[in-house]
Amino acid sequence: MANEPFSPTRRGLLTGAAALAAAVPGLARAEISLNVASAPVTGEAAAADIVSPYGRHQAGITTPRPANGMVAAFHVLADTPADLERLFRRLTERIVFLTHGGAVPELDPKLPPADSGLLGAAILPDATTITVALGTSLFDDRPWLAAQKPRVLQRMTKFFNDALVADLCHGDMSIQFCANSQESVVHALRDIVKSIPDQLVLKWAQAGNVPAIAPQPGGAMESARNLLGFRDGSANPDSGDVALMERVVWAGTGEPEWAAGGSYQAVRIIRNLVERWDRTPLGEQERIFGRTKITGAPLDRPHMTEAEVPDYTTDPDGAAVPLDSHIRLANDRKPGTDASLMLRRPFNYVNGVLKNGQLDQGLLFIAWQADLERSFIAVQRRLDGEPLEEYIKPVGGGYFFALPGFTEGDWLGRSLIETV
Ligand code: HEM
Repeated sequence: MANEPFSPTRRGLLTGAAALAAAVPGLARAEISLNVASAPVTGEAAAADIVSPYGRHQAGITTPRPANGMVAAFHVLADTPADLERLFRRLTERIVFLTHGGAVPELDPKLPPADSGLLGAAILPDATTITVALGTSLFDDRPWLAAQKPRVLQRMTKFFNDALVADLCHGDMSIQFCANSQESVVHALRDIVKSIPDQLVLKWAQAGNVPAIAPQPGGAMESARNLLGFRDGSANPDSGDVALMERVVWAGTGEPEWAAGGSYQAVRIIRNLVERWDRTPLGEQERIFGRTKITGAPLDRPHMTEAEVPDYTTDPDGAAVPLDSHIRLANDRKPGTDASLMLRRPFNYVNGVLKNGQLDQGLLFIAWQADLERSFIAVQRRLDGEPLEEYIKPVGGGYFFALPGFTEGDWLGRSLIETV
């Protein structure tokens, strides 16, 4: 199996916007929504898809989002640099295997089998990515590591509308698993849990998925819908724009040297109060977000597409896009606000039923950025008190810092270990 970033089918999704426009005469730039949160296309995903784990950055951040994902947070049992190195090396080994796939070794039946068996005798890559990020407690609780903490890594504190559940928050390490199928996500988690029981203790995990959509005319890409029925990801910065990603997503300036090429991860488990939402008039739902529900077009040009950029200069009082709508508060598009851009790569979750008989559904919000304070924290502060809060309740999550990537033969986290 070739070790290339993407299989031929998925490579089609990665063509730059310009190339796509060139390939499809008449497709205007504004009609193309090419970003990491584009919905998976029905029939495109294959078990043979490989997303290379190698590179300056870890996979699973700017690589296209497959249909399934999960964030698992762990306590780390590693008291010395040697312990931590052992953990990173073992994680790397498992990541390399799970992302490329291969035959499961046959062991003596007197021993536990080498693999859970969920995927049969051979593991297929299935576009699996495994992204490892560190929480502030890993640094704070180890004096030999404290000086190497990323500049603005911190413990997530309560925002205005939060009802944080302690058991669903924080962690020394987060591992994000993504794959085409839910089975591959669960298989990868179980592999890591089984392979490293002496150093990783699971604290919480939240799985999610995004709905695939049928191929669109002209190859146009659309954002997947969240569980409130709106397209989510329309205004995401273009993950194919390397210079933009360098500015928005990848950490570097001001960070400890080892951290260059990493990224801050904000994870939020946000319950959606779907019963209440489903009884809310459509017009009100649309004003809450500032976009139309079906197409995702901004309300100042409702007959266009989700790719259309709202123009707030012609709507200063919010007659079309209300001033307190989600998109306008999150990004008022005034000079300077683009300093808080982030790359959102969320999944929807459906957990069953709460004790009070309400549906337990929501958004596993995951955002990546070069500076946690300038992006996620600043934007969430602007959103505090927004009308959407009547319909959502953040209950968990945490802040983490994704390690820089690694190349073939190398191991994840080496730059950090070499500085301690
Ligand atoms: C359950 C919670 C949430 C839901 C259902 C939700 C949904 C949406 C939707 C439908 C849009 C418009 C389409 C798009 O550009 O993606 C949007 C935009 C956006 N959201 Fe959220 N969102 C949620 C939470 C958050 C949080 C916690 C943040 C960050 C603190 C955030 C930041 C943004 C940003 C930055 C935009 C783009 C604004 C723009 O540039 O026009 N969202 N969200």
